Amino acid sequence: MSGKGGVGKSSLTANLATALTLKGKTVGVVDADINGPTLAKMMGVRDATLEYTPAGVKPAITALGTKLISMDLLLAEDDDAFTWRSTMEVGALREFIADTEWGALDYLLLDLPPGTDRLPNVAELIPDLGGVVVVTIPSEVSQLIVKKSVTMARDILKVPIIGVVENMAFYVCQHCGEEEPLFTAGETPDAAFQQVVLGSVPFDPRLARSSDDGTLYLDEYPDAPASKVLMEVAEKVQAFFQSL
Ligand SMILES: Nc1ncnc2c1ncn2[C@@H]1O[C@H](COP(=O)(O)OP(=O)(O)O)[C@@H](O)[C@H]1O
Ligand SMILES: [Mg+2]
Repeated sequence: MSGKGGVGKSSLTANLATALTLKGKTVGVVDADINGPTLAKMMGVRDATLEYTPAGVKPAITALGTKLISMDLLLAEDDDAFTWRSTMEVGALREFIADTEWGALDYLLLDLPPGTDRLPNVAELIPDLGGVVVVTIPSEVSQLIVKKSVTMARDILKVPIIGVVENMAFYVCQHCGEEEPLFTAGETPDAAFQQVVLGSVPFDPRLARSSDDGTLYLDEYPDAPASKVLMEVAEKVQAFFQSL
């Protein structure tokens, strides 16, 4: 979650799911952004045909074996203009989680839409939610909104916060390897959120390209600086659950 749009929630969900899959875990992903589903495209399964069985719908499976369900896979093309209002959204989400034949999973990741009001709906559906990963970028505008989400998760919903990922934290020059900031404003993430920082993911144009092409960045560029951080984020998420 982040509260804010465009900070990289979906990209991070796709990459975190892929990282956990590469670590040998069985991972399912719910694209909970019902009105703006992007994960089927980002994870390269937009053309998948879903199989319906008496036990439920079988999720799409990425090239590496991550399972995904998304509104993008369910809607016919001419339904594109259809908008789900928030009450319907909760119902759709409930069906996504309940009617998908996931099989046994180690992790189920949910990619939330932007908006600070989204987490309460999810927390209501899944009372024993394991925890949230908060995504931000180092700008004051992002921090302002994301802080509200952190407060809501922590103080109102009492959902465990696994930590914060700072995305687009810096840019690594592909010629000289020098790190340059992308944003100049904002506090450091630990000061801004008083939470564990799981990692600072650099901006990498190849990551954006992989999302657009539906190729899996971690598989394609395992040695890229962003890939190393993403794998560390996955390790910290695993450690969080192992320590419970
Ligand atoms: N670390 C990154 N490096 C390069 N591009 C990124 C990075 N993180 C996200 N992007 C790009 O930024 C855009 C917004 O990301 P997205 O994951 O869709 O955000 P959100 O789900 O929060 O709205 C996408 O085009 C995505 O490919
Ligand atoms: Mg998104």
